[in-house]
Amino acid sequence: MKPTVLLSKVGLWSTTAASALLILGVAPMTAKAVNIPTAVTEEGKNTYKKYCSACHGEEGKGDGPLARSMLPKPRDFTRGAYKFRTTPSGSLPTDEDIFRTISYGVPNSTMIPWDILTEEQRASVIPVLKSFSEAFEVRKPDSPVSVGLPLRPTERAIAEGKKIYEEKLECWKCHGVEGRGDGPSAAEQEDDFGFPIKPFDFTTGKFKGGNSAQDVYLRFTTGLNGTPMPSFAKELTDEQRWCLTYYVMSLIKPEESTHKHHLKCPIISGGE
Ligand code: HEC
Ligand code: HEC
Repeated sequence: MKPTVLLSKVGLWSTTAASALLILGVAPMTAKAVNIPTAVTEEGKNTYKKYCSACHGEEGKGDGPLARSMLPKPRDFTRGAYKFRTTPSGSLPTDEDIFRTISYGVPNSTMIPWDILTEEQRASVIPVLKSFSEAFEVRKPDSPVSVGLPLRPTERAIAEGKKIYEEKLECWKCHGVEGRGDGPSAAEQEDDFGFPIKPFDFTTGKFKGGNSAQDVYLRFTTGLNGTPMPSFAKELTDEQRWCLTYYVMSLIKPEESTHKHHLKCPIISGGE
């Protein structure tokens, strides 16, 4: 895809910080307005039992009756290893991170967006999930990584990102040169639980952790705990991170995707 196509997709782009944040989808789905209880409540226990335990298991081990033939497996919550975080590699997630995942779901898996539950119900299960892992008793999540103000997705930025993807950090070894998740190391990847895992196919556009530029930026900055997807926190400046983000987004090929999920992403649908 030519950078101009990406630029037109980002047609709503604005240089003012406030509207840039809006476009990047920072505002929605945070749990700020929702009160997340600090202890397990009856409502939380009941909600978990009714809506989550069939997959995630009574004790959060990811071994519910529906889990058997499922891949990717429902998360085993006992290790405190969460993929989708704003916090650094190896850290526990914040409550807001967990709330966001429950609300957004995990595309490309059986984990649906739980919008049939009220925000209070979604918040109520968070202490239940945390109670399955000792990690939350002995540690606190680190502070979220700082996401600087986004660069504009210019041709130069995208070209710079391509160099990082292909030469500096060799993302293609897992994700493939065209981003189809078919690099030379792709077949041998396993998660920490011993299950096979595929490097993400960027062309589909249905990012598991969210489709905004900020989401993409966060995924390779924080890594996905419990998976072979490493954190590239130390290797890149903030500016290089935005370049890589826009290059990764330029690999999305909506015309080849049978799903339309990516259209929900404001930054993608902006100019279409
Ligand atoms: C039909 C099965 C199913 C049900 C029911 C289900 N989940 Fe999931 N869930 C999954 C799968 C599968 C994944 C892993 C997706 C992946 O990693 O690609 C997952 C992942 C998650 C994660 C991701 C954590 C992370 O960042 O790594 C959270 C949180 C979660 N589920 C919470 C819930 C809650 C809360 C409920 C009940 C309201 C629920 N799930 C119900 C299948 C299910
Ligand atoms: C060792 C193999 C490996 C390397 C190297 C690698 N990745 Fe990944 N990456 C993965 C795997 C495996 C996943 C999928 C995890 C999942 O589905 O839970 C992933 C997921 C991702 C995601 C999350 C997509 C989503 O669904 O939200 C992004 C973004 C990403 N990688 C970007 C990169 C970038 C950029 C680089 C280079 C700087 C890179 N990766 C290098 C293995 C790798």
